[in-house]
Amino acid sequence: MATENRSDTFDIGGEDTVHRLGFGAMRLTGEEIIGPPDDEDEARDVLQRATDLGVDFIDTADSYGPAVSERLIGEALAPYDDAFVATKGGLWRDDRDAAWPRCGEPGYLRNAILGSLDRLRTDEIDLYQFHRPDPEVDYEESVNTFAEFKDEGKVNHVGVSNVSVEQLETARDVVEIATVQNQYNIGDREHEAVLEYCEDHDIGFIPWAPLGSGELDGLDEVAANHDATEYQVGLAWLLQHSPVMLPIPGTSSVDHLEENVAASEIDLTDDEIATIEG
Ligand SMILES: NC(=O)c1ccc[n+]([C@@H]2O[C@H](COP(=O)([O-])OP(=O)(O)OC[C@H]3O[C@@H](n4cnc5c(N)ncnc54)[C@H](OP(=O)(O)O)[C@@H]3O)[C@@H](O)[C@H]2O)c1
Repeated sequence: MATENRSDTFDIGGEDTVHRLGFGAMRLTGEEIIGPPDDEDEARDVLQRATDLGVDFIDTADSYGPAVSERLIGEALAPYDDAFVATKGGLWRDDRDAAWPRCGEPGYLRNAILGSLDRLRTDEIDLYQFHRPDPEVDYEESVNTFAEFKDEGKVNHVGVSNVSVEQLETARDVVEIATVQNQYNIGDREHEAVLEYCEDHDIGFIPWAPLGSGELDGLDEVAANHDATEYQVGLAWLLQHSPVMLPIPGTSSVDHLEENVAASEIDLTDDEIATIEG
């Protein structure tokens, strides 16, 4: 058995312990991640069920909806006795084409965090992540605004997202970076170097689209060995691949949530890992 990376927990910023298998709340919205979901009660049930199952790391962003995902989390889970909430700022939505324009200007970010604090019903965000570098704004200037939020007590930890190793190093010169969130799954390992950097510096690595946004292939043989689904194998592989890995599978369904959480019980053998990694 390959068990070396099987600690269930990770200490974010070296101090806040969360279960490594988290939940991504982007899917608790309408189509194209715009507007409310068809059934808001069901969305709140998914969040409640997640924490009942011991999932205590919840990822969201002000741009999901926009505002909708954060609002539902505030309604369902505040005051967060059982949850650590990570949100993000730096993107906004245009519903004419479902675009995700970027804005890393300090004034924009200051306006954004006030909305997030209000919707999440808190006066301090556990982890606030800069969603994506804005090519129109000096990266250090944007990250410095997150450092100011930390100094002002608006956020406890700062994270970055969609970054290269170079951008991560630039950010770390400005403020302590607790987590990095980049796209990563068994079918897309472009950011392996960023993951390795995170391992070397004890930074949490949050792979977004951990299920390949619902499209994982080629895992059926290993899945059959465990009487599991390919999605479960994809999650088990992530958890075993690195001790700093914090997957945030997203779902709008209680059934899929339960299936995803059960994936943390799967132990892949070294042979199976070799098969998966091809
Ligand atoms: N930082 C960034 O730029 C960024 C970008 C994208 C996403 N994210 C974050 O990453 C999280 C996850 O990403 P994601 O939602 O795009 O991709 P994902 O977690 O890889 O996949 C989600 C998709 O898979 C389906 N799914 C989930 N569990 C399933 C299961 N057990 N069986 C079958 N289908 C299943 C979901 O549909 P159902 O609803 O039907 O279950 C949904 O369509 C998001 O919630 C968000 O928090 C961050």
